Amino acid sequence: MMTTLLIKGGIVVNADRQFQADVLCVDGVIAQIDETICAPEDAQVIDASGQLVMPGGIDPHTHMNFPFMGTTTVDDFYSGTSAALAGGTTTIIDFVIPNPQEPLLEAYQKWRRWAESAVADYSFHVAITWWDESVRQDMKTLVEQHGVNSFKHFMAYKNAIMCDDETLVNSFRRSLELGAMPTVHAENGELVYLLQQQVKEMGITGPEGHPLSRPAMVEAEAANRAIAIADVIGVPIYVVHVSCQESADAIARARARGQRVYGEVLAGHLVIDDSVYRDPDYTQAAAHVMSPPFRPKHHQEALWTGLQSGQLHTTATDHCTFCAAQKAAGADDFAKIPNGCGGVEERMAVIWDAGVGTGRLTPSEFVAITSANAAKLFNIYPRKGLIAVGSDADLVIWDPQASRTISAKTHHSNNDFNVFEGRTVTGIPSHTISHGKVVWANGQLHVEKGAGHYIKRAAFGDNFTANATRQQQLTPTAVKR
Ligand code: URP
Ligand code: ZN
Ligand code: ZN
Ligand code: ZN
Repeated sequence: MMTTLLIKGGIVVNADRQFQADVLCVDGVIAQIDETICAPEDAQVIDASGQLVMPGGIDPHTHMNFPFMGTTTVDDFYSGTSAALAGGTTTIIDFVIPNPQEPLLEAYQKWRRWAESAVADYSFHVAITWWDESVRQDMKTLVEQHGVNSFKHFMAYKNAIMCDDETLVNSFRRSLELGAMPTVHAENGELVYLLQQQVKEMGITGPEGHPLSRPAMVEAEAANRAIAIADVIGVPIYVVHVSCQESADAIARARARGQRVYGEVLAGHLVIDDSVYRDPDYTQAAAHVMSPPFRPKHHQEALWTGLQSGQLHTTATDHCTFCAAQKAAGADDFAKIPNGCGGVEERMAVIWDAGVGTGRLTPSEFVAITSANAAKLFNIYPRKGLIAVGSDADLVIWDPQASRTISAKTHHSNNDFNVFEGRTVTGIPSHTISHGKVVWANGQLHVEKGAGHYIKRAAFGDNFTANATRQQQLTPTAVKR
């Protein structure tokens, strides 16, 4: 059945410019953008006057249905993507994370099954947690047959999913051959392990021990190492959840040398500081345990200026929700608290409020860091991340004047805690449109289990082509004698 939706009278905001236009969506795709469009018969019409019409958010870092640290996140793909749509995010890129020795393709198929309940579009990065010839082969199959164009490397989580330098080097080389983006969780897992023991020996066993075991330099060491390895191998690299000045500086330095390095920032790291870990209430403090941890305030300013200056590129949430009962596993030992916090519903509004609302970002810059840049880097642009004829009709109608106060009582995640609890944000989605259908309108979700599409992403995005050309130009030659 054809679905026709006309959005009238709004201001279209793309990453490059804003303009007044009506937007007609037919059968899940943007069919026409014009100053004035007459409503076709049977069209649903939304009056967007006084509001902005933006590409739906892309959250390039979520963990739904994630089995981690002996438990599984409370949000599955149904609740997690429902929450995403309620917040104006229409696509997530989640992670397939094989256990060490688990075949990549088996893990991939498992996650695909879990994601069948998604109500919004989704795609997968695949983590490389171990190495042998089968992993090399499976990476190729994933890229060429399953539309995976990015591989994740955890440099932390020793004795679990951490990969050593040998795996990093092998996987980065393979990623280069396949035209897939290597991404890293940059924390030195050996140092974290050592510091966890030392902090506990000092008699600190509560959540306040968590940031002490993961200081900024632990993150910076890994970021610098991963960037250096990528430079030697000649592959672009994407650093997930950059949380501190030192990592942001490492990225900026590499970029100044001409290296293709990209950085992602989490909404939480932009506005929450490390004082949360000293809350006398264990439940409150443990609910904020995630890695990298929330940092002292001056790091937030470095992340904002990184986004403003274009040295950092995307924003995400690392949505990975564990409830109070799950967080209680670490009551006697902070190292056992399942790591992760939510935010997939709040990211857009928190960043609009603290970014556009303070003049740090223009509306177009907001679109760049919440949608367009992720679409470009992970090669789904202009299908996603742009309002243009032929693009997916995944849109958000944004009311810049409306406010709401964030709370676990009203959010759509299954979690019993919200790290943004009590924060009042101005600038919220009045409507979210997925596949040309209104899935969120004036505080109500209208979602259909399984309506989300799996998004295949082609390898060899622009940055790979440019890199290959550059390498060819710089390839040393033997001296003929
Ligand atoms: O604490 C976090 N971030 N949990 C999810 C796994 C990861 O490191 O991304
Ligand atoms: Zn991580
Ligand atoms: Zn993560
Ligand atoms: Zn779709």
